[in-house]
Amino acid sequence: MKLSYPLIIINYKTYLETLGKKGLQIAKIAEKISLEYGVCIVVAPQFVDIRKISEEVSIPVFAQHVDSYPPGAYTGHITPESIKEAGACGTLINHSEKRLRIDIIEEIVSRCNNLNLKTCICANNTLIAKALSLLKPEMIAVEPPELIGSGISVSKAKPEIIINSVNSIKSISPSVHVLCGAGITEGIDVKKAIEFGSEGVLVASAIAKSKDPEKILKEFAIALTK
Ligand code: G3P
Repeated sequence: MKLSYPLIIINYKTYLETLGKKGLQIAKIAEKISLEYGVCIVVAPQFVDIRKISEEVSIPVFAQHVDSYPPGAYTGHITPESIKEAGACGTLINHSEKRLRIDIIEEIVSRCNNLNLKTCICANNTLIAKALSLLKPEMIAVEPPELIGSGISVSKAKPEIIINSVNSIKSISPSVHVLCGAGITEGIDVKKAIEFGSEGVLVASAIAKSKDPEKILKEFAIALTK
């Protein structure tokens, strides 16, 4: 499944509101809005729902994490092969809620590259974002942890983290796409992020916790195209 930029990634995390049928419903809304506005929207459901969602919608599906272990005797681990077989075309790595050592991240990126899986490495600040871009993932998403789930957006509270991350990553790894996330709540947050040079946003609670996810996602998509 092809990605295009700018894009929106909806991280389902482990919210009950994104699990099972509810998660599928969100993916269907995302597909509808993606078609309506010509915007790439990626969903990152909980592992158990990857297959069902991948079979039912034709938008890119990511995993939220993957382990570096190869197939074999590694009980309880999630292999890149397994998410691919279930229908994912990529994965988040090193989310603030699932941090990893840098040598492990390198191994995962390389395993995913070999399987043609796209990678989006999350970073908590500009310096880490710059360093991780040397691993040449498809994307780096910079997210200040203290703003995650806060309703206060990175683009309002910490615009410098977006601007500095874009500048420093593009200076050493120009092919890496730079995204941002944390607290993105309304269209203006997305619009500002794009103005600051971000090539997309990573969002969670604004969609998961909304009574009307379609309305908010539409607002995000419109902001992305302006
Ligand atoms: O992965 C996206 C995420 O960490 C941002 O969460 O709830 O602030 O949109 P939220």
